[in-house]
Amino acid sequence: MNVLLIGSGAREHALAWKLAQSPMLGKLFATPGNPGIAQHAEIVAIDPRDHRGTVDFCLKNSVELIVIGPEAPLVDGLGDNLRTMGFCVFGPNKLPAQLEGSKSFTKDLCARHNIPTARYAKASDRLAAEAALEDFALPMVIKADGLAAGKGVIIAGTGEEAIAALDIMFAGGFGSAGASVVIEEFLTGEEASFFALTDGETVVPFGSAQDHKRVGDGDTGPNTGGMGAYSPASILTPALEQRVMDEIIRPTIRALADRGSPYSGILYAGLMLTEDGPSLIEYNARFGDPECQVLMMRLEDDLLEIMLATAKGKLGSMPTPRFSDDVALTVVMAANGYPGPPERGGRIDGLEVAAESGALVFHAGTAEAGGSIVSDGGRVLAVTARGSSAKAAQKTAYAAVDAIDFPAGFCRRDIGWREIMRSGGEK
Ligand code: AMP
Ligand code: GLY
Repeated sequence: MNVLLIGSGAREHALAWKLAQSPMLGKLFATPGNPGIAQHAEIVAIDPRDHRGTVDFCLKNSVELIVIGPEAPLVDGLGDNLRTMGFCVFGPNKLPAQLEGSKSFTKDLCARHNIPTARYAKASDRLAAEAALEDFALPMVIKADGLAAGKGVIIAGTGEEAIAALDIMFAGGFGSAGASVVIEEFLTGEEASFFALTDGETVVPFGSAQDHKRVGDGDTGPNTGGMGAYSPASILTPALEQRVMDEIIRPTIRALADRGSPYSGILYAGLMLTEDGPSLIEYNARFGDPECQVLMMRLEDDLLEIMLATAKGKLGSMPTPRFSDDVALTVVMAANGYPGPPERGGRIDGLEVAAESGALVFHAGTAEAGGSIVSDGGRVLAVTARGSSAKAAQKTAYAAVDAIDFPAGFCRRDIGWREIMRSGGEK
């Protein structure tokens, strides 16, 4: 079977690596791809915003399954158009992708179905937003309603900061994403990510992970797309996972099915584990990056078979996906400047030596220049390893990181610290 994979991050490199192991795979195409994905796929130039062009490519090249990695094409309705043309698609349609595309869509759905989440108010004009601030204690959380590439969240510690946040949003600081805002109560606890696979009816757990969102060691500095992750997150005990499935995931999937727009694909729940139990912070309509890398390292089944069953609505006839008991851990190497404008063109050496250490180096923002690999984005590599414990996986991952010569880049040195502390080790 021929497959088209859309995306260019280390998430898509990990998906390509796993799909390439399937005996069912014919040809794997990827767009826009990157030099790492090119090790497993033929890179093709298709613009996923051009739905007609994407359909034409798939028809000409006998593609049967399209795997949509990032959120933008999902929210843009690429899935709907491909499905209409009879293709199998891994990733939800436009309306259910609103779980990621619109914070107020998700909050309203949670309110209607008693799904635990932070108390909120929404406002689409400045005056109403300012009035709504009165109902929240400090700190409070102010979010751009629409897609803002993970950047549209401001935690305001003072009234002035809250007003300043509204100023930024209503002045277009996050583009049209901030034309309406959601104001939320601030939740305390530890964050964890939980994944569920669903064809709209059957829902199965698909692993847990913990991301490291801040740029600096000890969780300091500005937020990023994620500087590292590990899986599983043992803080999500089986009992807590059961609660997440029963109180958050299943009611969401049922609500969407009941309104005639079933969700098909992977659903990623960002959770706050509060004293009262798990509370939903946000949904994503796709795999996380870098969480996907660690999930793929642990997945023991055929990813293509799983994705196809999901796309065809046949998840119910599949055995539950199996994951290794090993811990997987990934360290993101970013270009200097990230999460601000990154330095591009920094030369990267030592990738072959790193691979000998037993880790896998997934590419994100890389390019080829003059026979070398150079940086071409903010997050550049995701160095990923497996081990019998978080400590063991961390050791292998950092041995590989240390073999990589990337003078124009940096990484955190403490990925996995919470898990290692929990298991009694030193960070
Ligand atoms: P989001 O883009 O919605 O994932 O938010 C980014 C980050 O902001 C989350 O990972 C949390 O660390 C933090 N955050 C978002 N909402 C809340 C909330 N209601 N209470 C506390 N922290 C939050
Ligand atoms: N790592 C966070 C995300 O993919 O949204």
